[in-house]
Amino acid sequence: MISSAAFSDTLKRDRDIDILTHRSHFPALGIENRTYFNYGGQGVLCGAALDAIAKNFHHIEELGCFSNAAGDWMMAEYEATKAAIAQEFQVSPSTITLTENTTVGCNIALWALDWQQGDRLLLSDCEHPGIIASAVQIQKRFGIKIDYFPLTNTRNSSANGKDDELVCELLVQHLQPKTRMVMLSHVCWNTGQVLPLKAITKACHDRHVLVAVDAAQSVGVLPLNLEDIAADFYAFTTHKWWCAPLGLGALYIRPEVFDEIEPVFVGWRGLTGKNPIPQWRKDGAKFEVASSTYALYEALRIAIAHANAWGTQQQRYERICQLSQLLWQKLNALPHISCVRQLPPESGLVSFTIDKELSKNAIAQKPHALIAKHLEFEHQIYIRALPAPDCLRASVHYLTTTSDIDRLVSMIETFA
Ligand SMILES: Cc1ncc(COP(=O)(O)O)c(C=O)c1O
Repeated sequence: MISSAAFSDTLKRDRDIDILTHRSHFPALGIENRTYFNYGGQGVLCGAALDAIAKNFHHIEELGCFSNAAGDWMMAEYEATKAAIAQEFQVSPSTITLTENTTVGCNIALWALDWQQGDRLLLSDCEHPGIIASAVQIQKRFGIKIDYFPLTNTRNSSANGKDDELVCELLVQHLQPKTRMVMLSHVCWNTGQVLPLKAITKACHDRHVLVAVDAAQSVGVLPLNLEDIAADFYAFTTHKWWCAPLGLGALYIRPEVFDEIEPVFVGWRGLTGKNPIPQWRKDGAKFEVASSTYALYEALRIAIAHANAWGTQQQRYERICQLSQLLWQKLNALPHISCVRQLPPESGLVSFTIDKELSKNAIAQKPHALIAKHLEFEHQIYIRALPAPDCLRASVHYLTTTSDIDRLVSMIETFA
């Protein structure tokens, strides 16, 4: 829960207008009467990142497309970008594979194993549809079995660390002798629950099971040291909480598993260039394929630097938690609203439902997807509807303000 001292610190930061000054660099946040709560879908770009994208497309034309000069520039961008990502996680750039999004990174992890018929893959019951689809394809192709462990039932258990122990115990109970990999989200996209990843990884490694992580909702939210967590694969995108451009993601691969796994999609980026081919590079490029949109890379570095200029990963995470707890408290105080998670949020995601029986409002009687549309088109309040559980989800970023929260809550209050 928010202590009053911590909360007044949040308010002070707002009053000190440092967050307002910082927000003024993001054109989308300056649009009048717009209140943005969809960071878990896509973040907003700062002006400098937007400018860099346009500038770099021009720069490539000026250098000469497919010229040596442009090639050198692109490779320098590539190296600098991997280094910037690696630095955020306190790991070596050689552990980073650049991708387009989270799902590609998860696919690389899932398909990298030499699956044998009868092997088992364990997923949580809160995974994203794209990741489940990939797992089901592996099941069809190799005759493996998919097991699910139920996070849904743990989401309202008691706090004080017991929640974490329960999740870990549940997961271990669902490991089978033939389980080779566990694939799970660090932060659940539907409930915002943060999984005790370090403890899970230790429990899995003790049983020789690999851990692959969907980090779509954790990168840019949680302070992260990937060497310390020790998960084998950590796949993410940069366009959500990091507020970088769409189309740029990455995958961390733990060095200890690197030589045991093989790429499925391959191309020139993964090759050493020496005959006889294929001989794979000894770094994350082994899992990269071919040409990419190098013109986007600087925008990611700008986005990371911009966030770090406001505060450390820890400071940003604390602000996210303070604000999401504030929203959760205010929503919980409304009789017609139930928050999906009954524990105070420990990430930026706050999911809730509108109880139609307790509301007389005509909008509130509509499906959540139509309510989200109504909020966007009529009020410029951007939140999303989720299918499972059927609910609305607001994403609270460190860029969010208490006024954003007040506006959303006042609007939801009118649905009584
Ligand atoms: C948990 C989770 N996994 C995967 C995805 C898909 O992300 P991407 O489009 O980066 O592959 C999302 C996006 O919303 C997500 O929340």
